[in-house]
Amino acid sequence: LNAAAVVPAAGRGERLGPGAPKALRELGGVPLLVHAVRALARSRAVTLVVVVAPVDGVAQVRQLLDDYGVDGHDSARIAVVPGGATRQESVRLGLAVIPEDVDVVLVHDAARPLVPVDVVDAVARAVADGAEAVVPAVPLADTVKQVRPTGVPGRPEPVVATPDRSTLRAVQTPQGFRREVLLRVHEKALNDGIEATDDAGLVERYAGSVVVVPGHEEAFKVTRPLDLVLAEAVLARRRA
Ligand code: CTP
Ligand code: MG
Repeated sequence: LNAAAVVPAAGRGERLGPGAPKALRELGGVPLLVHAVRALARSRAVTLVVVVAPVDGVAQVRQLLDDYGVDGHDSARIAVVPGGATRQESVRLGLAVIPEDVDVVLVHDAARPLVPVDVVDAVARAVADGAEAVVPAVPLADTVKQVRPTGVPGRPEPVVATPDRSTLRAVQTPQGFRREVLLRVHEKALNDGIEATDDAGLVERYAGSVVVVPGHEEAFKVTRPLDLVLAEAVLARRRA
């Protein structure tokens, strides 16, 4: 099992509020990105981690990974490439440097620093066992309603439907793919001008099959300031 991981880390983190780009913000004194890369490199399946950095931050990210001793961690090599304007473009730019002898590609958000290595292993394993695309996910705690957005903040929105919660899953990363499948759908999406919010969504769009495996509550995405508070608490509990 020879897996490479692409880590999109080129976002600004606007919802987190003012400050450094999200991937460089610290959790327990260590940048989110460093946590995320370590979580991947901990998996014995992962031989290469491609970090997709902000265009103007490539040198800084390389330096950071060096400073924290992530470069050369175990047997995983680390590469850093410049990202794009959207997450999808950043992933595509990362994919472009993955060697052909890699069978399995994982795509993991830098914004999910605390993913347990068991989730990384399970996703890679499910691809190696034959799935085209694998997504870790968790059941929803909240009931979800589909609305007709008014476009006006604060104006009540009409409810259209309440999907059966027991059939819904909140998806996480790393998502795992057969290398050629992910390359193909990204190339098609570029040609067709299609944008999806996750990579598995592109596989679905082009009639590929996607399966879900259990994710983990600690693989949550750091999006808003409260998520950083929760992440600090999870890390403190781990270190205790
Ligand atoms: N990402 C990226 N390139 C972009 C936009 C996002 O590599 N042009 C990455 C982010 O760095 C992050 C992941 O995609 O690791 C998930 O995106 P998200 O959580 O939305 O992060 P941001 O886009 O940075 O945050 P926001 O949407 O709040 O600005
Ligand atoms: Mg974003």
